[in-house]
Amino acid sequence: MPGDKARLYDELARQLAGLIEGERDLIANSANMAALIFNGLPDLNWAGFYFRRQDELVLGPFQGKPACIRIAWGEGVCGAAAARGASIVVPNVHEFPGHIACDPASRSELVVPLLQAERALGVLDLDSPIPGRFDEADRAGCERLVALFLENQLRWPEGFA
Ligand code: SME
Repeated sequence: MPGDKARLYDELARQLAGLIEGERDLIANSANMAALIFNGLPDLNWAGFYFRRQDELVLGPFQGKPACIRIAWGEGVCGAAAARGASIVVPNVHEFPGHIACDPASRSELVVPLLQAERALGVLDLDSPIPGRFDEADRAGCERLVALFLENQLRWPEGFA
């Protein structure tokens, strides 16, 4: 139900604000946010971050199985969302050209870029074993969580390349 999903993201935003408020450390805050999302949203098998380091994305804090460490700019769903500077919802990862299969259980994916003045500092990546798991409410909800995270983090932008 769309209303239930909106309430779930309201609650996650409230909890995220409480976790990161007053804390500047990029690793600590992104680790807590990955844990909050992984445990708070149903039907995920991976939730976490990749951060921009030169011209590639490098694995950051996450929950789920070990994942690929480096993703070239523009490659896979993560690299495409970073290069485009826009979120990407993939209902069926097998139909996304160049999708990088870190966990073969993943069937659908949502990637939200961390944007500062239209430049991606990294991405938030969510994977699900259920096809079509992510909809517009998830995209909007996760963009809201990322905006909250960035607003806090960019007061002290240390840790971003
Ligand atoms: N599937 C992603 C790679 C990251 S993992 O799913 C954690 C992609 O195609 O960008």
